[in-house]
Amino acid sequence: MDQVTLRRREDGAIELRVNGVFVMDDVETSSERLLARHVLDGGARRVLVGGLGLGFTTRELLADADVEHVVVAELHHEIVDRMRDGTIPGADLLGDPRLEVVVDDVRAVVAAQPVHSLDAIVLDVDNGPDFLVHDKNAAVYGPGFVATCAERLRPDGQLCVWSMADSEQLRRVMAEHLLDVDAVAVPVVLQGRREHYWILTGRRG
Ligand SMILES: C[S@@+](CC[C@H](N)C(=O)[O-])C[C@H]1O[C@@H](n2cnc3c(N)ncnc32)[C@H](O)[C@@H]1O
Repeated sequence: MDQVTLRRREDGAIELRVNGVFVMDDVETSSERLLARHVLDGGARRVLVGGLGLGFTTRELLADADVEHVVVAELHHEIVDRMRDGTIPGADLLGDPRLEVVVDDVRAVVAAQPVHSLDAIVLDVDNGPDFLVHDKNAAVYGPGFVATCAERLRPDGQLCVWSMADSEQLRRVMAEHLLDVDAVAVPVVLQGRREHYWILTGRRG
């Protein structure tokens, strides 16, 4: 069983670890919020998010009054529980009637959606195909699941995937099912260093 740890560091930041491996903190969250902005700018109203985490992607989506429904798939109930009790800021999000949180693997939650029902699917469950925290998440970046995502999107619907690095392999897999596949570099400053995170995007034809 995975061990989920949330702690407040000496610098005041909240840090999430799973099995001792750093997942994220609340210091540099521009790429998490940009994931949401990308699909909002494309007009998304019904969105599925893989990974609640510290809630930044979900908060950005729900801040848009035009958004009608957000389904969040979160593997670890502890994260939802800690948001509910206020350890992670976001109890207000959980009270939003447009939000549905499902504690399960994102692959099962996407598969359970009706075909052509979603304007966008936003995946931020791991660090990308080449830096996995959970070995099982390799399948999230594989052809079977990308095909399942594409089927759940309405025509012109978008799939956006957060990744620590660009991945030619993932872009190739996405291009088998989606149009206009692209990798967007998001500049970030991490402990004083200028780096990039990446958002891989594609649109259903
Ligand atoms: C990097 S965090 C997500 C960050 C989020 N975008 C935010 O704005 O805070 C990744 C989250 O995905 C969850 N997760 C990992 N694997 C998953 C899976 N297969 N299905 C659903 N959630 C998963 C983790 O427990 C964690 O909460």
